[in-house]
Amino acid sequence: MTSTSLWHDRTPWHAPAVQADVDLAGPWDVVVVGAGLTGLTTALLLGRAGKRVLVLEARQVGAGATGSSTAKVSLLQGTRLSSIRRHHPASTVARYVEANREGQAWVERFCDEHGVGLAHAPAYTYGHGRVGAARARREHDVARDAGLPVSWTDQVDLPFPTSGAVRLDDQVQLDPMELLGALAAEAVRHGVVVVEGVRVLKVRGSSPVRVTTYEHEVRTERLVLATNMPILDRGAFFSRMTPARSYGLAYRTDAEPVGAMYLSADQPSRSLRDAVDQDGQQLLLVGGSGHTTGRSTPTSAHVDELRTWTAEHFPGARETHAWSAQDFVPHHQLPFAGPLLPGSDHLLMAGGYAKWGMTNAVAASLALSSRILGGHTEWADAFATWSPHELRGLPASAKMNAEVGIELARGWLPPLRRTSRSKVCTHLGGVTTWNDAESSWDCPLHGSRFDADGSVLDGPAVCGLRHAEG
Ligand SMILES: Cc1cc2nc3c(=O)[nH]c(=O)nc-3n(C[C@H](O)[C@H](O)[C@H](O)COP(=O)(O)OP(=O)(O)OC[C@H]3O[C@@H](n4cnc5c(N)ncnc54)[C@H](O)[C@@H]3O)c2cc1C
Ligand code: FES
Repeated sequence: MTSTSLWHDRTPWHAPAVQADVDLAGPWDVVVVGAGLTGLTTALLLGRAGKRVLVLEARQVGAGATGSSTAKVSLLQGTRLSSIRRHHPASTVARYVEANREGQAWVERFCDEHGVGLAHAPAYTYGHGRVGAARARREHDVARDAGLPVSWTDQVDLPFPTSGAVRLDDQVQLDPMELLGALAAEAVRHGVVVVEGVRVLKVRGSSPVRVTTYEHEVRTERLVLATNMPILDRGAFFSRMTPARSYGLAYRTDAEPVGAMYLSADQPSRSLRDAVDQDGQQLLLVGGSGHTTGRSTPTSAHVDELRTWTAEHFPGARETHAWSAQDFVPHHQLPFAGPLLPGSDHLLMAGGYAKWGMTNAVAASLALSSRILGGHTEWADAFATWSPHELRGLPASAKMNAEVGIELARGWLPPLRRTSRSKVCTHLGGVTTWNDAESSWDCPLHGSRFDADGSVLDGPAVCGLRHAEG
């Protein structure tokens, strides 16, 4: 597998090298950690409001989930609304939809104003079989109750049998790297400093907040963690979300475009959309086969399963790209945007979008920037980091921690006795497993990933692997 997403294989945007006259030490009004959709949107919103903002990105703009996203900017999100409804009242689902509606509208407006290409298409959540159809029906009902103009159809225009679908017209799909490039350029135009290749290692203090990287000591009034999973353990967000990894494939095909954004309600999930390559050639994107990071080996079996499925249903499709990425699913099913710890606004975080960050990341950024600027966003309590709905989710959190405990016992003890090749995660000591699809060491506890040489790919870890001694 190449591990390079279709979008990364196009024109990347790179921050200008740090100029000698930019003193990273600060003091800054806001330091944003991470240059994905959350980080860059937040930075732009604050830069526009006149704040002095520094963005520190460990790798490159878009290196995380955003640059590997399927990038459906949709309010119909698989079975997300019914998952939320299982844990929360209908009024919370309505606020979540409102937040996502604002996120989607913001993206569309930004794209229009800055020449970022986007395409409108209907979105479908469809069933492969009876279970899928029942789930899709439930999603239809919850979405309708939340005010979305969804419809039900028994006829789905796909080249394999389906059992009906919920449909929402006029949703959006785009190239997420093109969007990030425009966001970064616009943020820089508003005075934001974006620096790539600078990993944040440590944060301490509150007034000012002191941020440590390998080469810099940075001071700021506030810090926004836009690292998908927060890199700080304060608030224990690592135990409140599960890392979910999944796969993307791009194909050149002579078949008719699928003409819509599809996601199955059954497992293993199947996601479809059209795209065009840089030569204007038609592409089919196929995604799915997700699993918890580090807990399902060999990982290559997941990619192979997706390839076999595509070959069966889209014969003649020729693969151009294969990649993988992860997002985090919060136990209470709602995204987070707010203080890392209750009662303090010096450290803020956003994440937990459950693979629907193209709207949620923007909504979270609107909520965070409004909070920093002293405003109030009506729907923002649906994204609260500490609130009654979060506390209600504790039983699920306890279960997740039990699973983590099992993984700790399974991963840590036996391999240490068996082999000295175990690689111990520098976050909280999980034993990583080999990801043969991507040649990386993946931690089954909270989703940190390391390349074959042990350098950090994904957090929450910030330091490279050390060999376990055994
Ligand atoms: C396979 C896949 C498909 C998806 N498809 C869709 C879709 O169709 N529609 C949709 O709405 N959503 C989709 N999503 C979800 C969406 O892509 C994400 O929710 C969203 O991109 C998250 O954005 P982010 O900015 O919060 O995180 P990221 O894009 O992950 O950005 C975090 C950044 O932080 C940086 N970072 C990490 N640690 C440090 C550190 N210590 N110091 C400095 N920087 C650091 C990382 O390098 C990274 O660039 C998908 C996700 C996946 C995995
Ligand atoms: S990610 Fe937490 S222990 Fe590895």
